[in-house]
Amino acid sequence: MNPDPKRLGTLDELLTTLDTLFEGGSDWTTREQSTHWQSIFSQPEHPLNSDLPDANLTEWQARGLLPNPASRTALDLGCGLGRNARWLARQGYRVTGLDLSAYAVAEAQRRTADLTVTYLEADLLRGPLPLPPADLVYDSGCFHHLPPHRRLTYLSVLGRLLKPGGHFGICTFAPGRMGSEATDVELLRRGSLEGGVAYSPDDLRGIFSDLDYVAGGPMPQLAGTFCHDFLNVALFRRPAG
Ligand SMILES: C[S@@+](CC[C@H](N)C(=O)[O-])C[C@H]1O[C@@H](n2cnc3c(N)ncnc32)[C@H](O)[C@@H]1O
Repeated sequence: MNPDPKRLGTLDELLTTLDTLFEGGSDWTTREQSTHWQSIFSQPEHPLNSDLPDANLTEWQARGLLPNPASRTALDLGCGLGRNARWLARQGYRVTGLDLSAYAVAEAQRRTADLTVTYLEADLLRGPLPLPPADLVYDSGCFHHLPPHRRLTYLSVLGRLLKPGGHFGICTFAPGRMGSEATDVELLRRGSLEGGVAYSPDDLRGIFSDLDYVAGGPMPQLAGTFCHDFLNVALFRRPAG
């Protein structure tokens, strides 16, 4: 407990204080704003309301870049309605899908009746996260909504949730296509995330530089998958340690 509430005493207090800069609706990664996701997911025609897996997942698997699913675990961070979690389960992974939105988790569970996926309603930034580390951690579209300071929290959480030797895949807005290209300082000053942050392949390699880069670039465009030209993807591997 901080003895002086007027003064920051811990990193956690700093992060929580910076969260308040985005109060008022811009930060969709808090429980208070989870209704934003409900309004998106309840639109029948919205692309996120589909059962298609990300094109890069299917491509990485076809190229033999993903870990062999037999006896392996996968964790889908910000799983939404579970379209990627279900695809991973169909490949043979033991999958956990984690999301902030109670609506998304309930709907994902309903859509997964024929498969075994564990869904967890949780805030990945603020926990608690009663999860063992996974062989594959995947994030499609959650990371790019984080306010700049919460990338630090995310990296620390990823460090706990990804096994040594495990793979981490990510899909984000692509600069020039979608998402804000403002600097972190500008975003913090404005107190607005402008709908999400754009990350180039080099940005992602820099942010996740503790991991070995495996593959990445613009999201591949493949029939029968979720593919949009405003997204970048990257796959990393954590050194075995
Ligand atoms: C753009 S949607 C992507 C959903 C899904 N991955 C997909 O691609 O279909 C972002 C998701 O991240 C979730 N999310 C945002 N902040 C989160 C947090 N702090 N903890 C857990 N989930 C979060 C949202 O509830 C939402 O479902």
